Amino acid sequence: MIKDQNISFLEWHLDAGADALLEEKAQNSLKNSSNAQVKVNRNQENNDFVKGEINYPNIKEYNNLEELKIAIQSFDRCNIKKTAKNLVFGSGKVGSKLMLIGEAPGEEEDISGEPFVGAAGKLLSKMLNSIGINRSETYITNIIPWRPPGNRKPSIDEIEAFKPFVYRHIELVYPKILVLVGGSAASAILQNDLGITRLRGKWFKFQEIDTLPIFHPAYLLRQPSQKKQAWEDLLKIKDKIEKLQ
Ligand code: URA
Repeated sequence: MIKDQNISFLEWHLDAGADALLEEKAQNSLKNSSNAQVKVNRNQENNDFVKGEINYPNIKEYNNLEELKIAIQSFDRCNIKKTAKNLVFGSGKVGSKLMLIGEAPGEEEDISGEPFVGAAGKLLSKMLNSIGINRSETYITNIIPWRPPGNRKPSIDEIEAFKPFVYRHIELVYPKILVLVGGSAASAILQNDLGITRLRGKWFKFQEIDTLPIFHPAYLLRQPSQKKQAWEDLLKIKDKIEKLQ
């Protein structure tokens, strides 16, 4: 009787579109998180990483994107890897002038292994096209390379855990302009908790790279009235690219 009830319960949720078992509150997906304090600080002086409780491999030893991809693929300290289908590493070319960093893969990115291919990705491509940029000329990645279950927001610990990889990713792509797509990417890279509404549209320097936070296209899909501000930010990117030439 109880077994039938459990099966019916699961079937009912599957029919309703549930694709992952979740609790109301996001779990800390980092292994041994009860006693492992994750701290990864950047040493500003020698531009190297001070390793915290997580024992990172020597990230500077990854000399190209392929090596970095293998390192991220085999990094087992984050449990979101277990619920994700595919690694979403990034797409584009080393040396692209423009690099964009989003938050984390969603369902379609998880299936395809490519960043920004779902509804938000389509809007992002349109945004770039509107200022004369084809996304194939850019490099796109995310702060978090695995889809968090149920598309929940990545936790602070998860973001901290992947930051050293993201920093190396930026160094290897070596863009002239960095665009931080949404609040998670902006606060992670700029180490600034002001929130995307305050940060967007302002230029920052990240390791000498001109860096602009913008609204996330998923937010613009929910709040189309904010597209006016997004357009102003796109024009700033266009202007900066024109000045590079
Ligand atoms: N949202 C993101 O931040 N990144 C993706 O790759 C897709 C949706």
